[in-house]
Amino acid sequence: MSTSPLAHLAQQVTDLLTSIAALSTLEELRDAEASLTGKRSPLASLQKSLGALEPEARKAAGAELQEARRVVETALDGQRALLARAARQSSLEADRLDLGDVVVGDVRWPLSVGHPGLISLTQRELEDVFVGMGFTVADGPEVESDWYNFEALNIPPAHPARGLWDSFYVDLGEPETVVLRTHTSPTQIHLMERAVADDSLPIHSVMPGRCFRRDTPDASHLYSFHQIEGLVVDRGITFGDLAGVIETFTRAYFGPDISSRLRPGYFPFTEPSAEFEVTCTICRGSGCRTCSSTGWLELGGCGMLDPAVLKAVGVDGEEWSGFAFGFGIDRCALMRHQVSDLRALIENDVRFLGQFS
Ligand code: PHE
Repeated sequence: MSTSPLAHLAQQVTDLLTSIAALSTLEELRDAEASLTGKRSPLASLQKSLGALEPEARKAAGAELQEARRVVETALDGQRALLARAARQSSLEADRLDLGDVVVGDVRWPLSVGHPGLISLTQRELEDVFVGMGFTVADGPEVESDWYNFEALNIPPAHPARGLWDSFYVDLGEPETVVLRTHTSPTQIHLMERAVADDSLPIHSVMPGRCFRRDTPDASHLYSFHQIEGLVVDRGITFGDLAGVIETFTRAYFGPDISSRLRPGYFPFTEPSAEFEVTCTICRGSGCRTCSSTGWLELGGCGMLDPAVLKAVGVDGEEWSGFAFGFGIDRCALMRHQVSDLRALIENDVRFLGQFS
């Protein structure tokens, strides 16, 4: 009696599974595939040998062989998935971008870390000083209607004071005039309108932000600059409160040997108005080229809220009074750090900025 062609099938399957498990790369697997399950595989030759069997026995052996093939193919698929995963993992690791260093040729350049700009740093410091004095910080839009930038601030269309602010107009094809705000004063109007609407007066706020004017850029002018506006609306506010806030701020920000003084000035939205000056930060008051030998540098404008402004926003001037001030953040940065050219503030040269850590 001849032995069944499948007598060693179990052992053959075991051997196949062992060789499959030993395949260590996808290429090896691809090369080995034909000899494991293809036409030249042991399974294929067993298949052929079944032809010699009786029909009954052939059927049983065929089923047994099919099951063996299923086991081997499942093992092969499993190994293929395993190797594909490993290959993907190692290619991900090889392709990993090292963003910590720049490598040019063989030289590795350590990346230097950036630095906040001097304007942002100054703005934060100014906010800190005012928050310490009890002010809140508020924000307003950079694009304004004519109403907010001018009219509500008591500067009607034909008012000669419009010439004080060379404006960039935005042509939106709308009947309403739209302007890039020329100062942060329009934010006063927003704050007062909101406080009237929510019945939330008093206001003690500062409003830092970017402004735009049609200046010719040079060492002390740029198209775009930053101001910080202050607004107090409360009961019984006097010019003495204004002068006290300006002086307290000046010493807190510039140091105890720098003080402030107010000189008569003119702004349509304040009455009386004043320009405020601080001791020259270069010569500390003794007189130098920067302060034209006066010992003082002009920082900004201020004054008591004009009744026309209170009326425009619907604040009852019988009950409330207040003051406002506004000055350049960029100018503060120059004065405090004795930088002579505004343009240094926007060039973002890290060698310059690194000095202000
Ligand atoms: N908005 C004025 C300017 O830009 C400054 C200012 C603010 C003056 C508040 C008085 C009160 O010149």
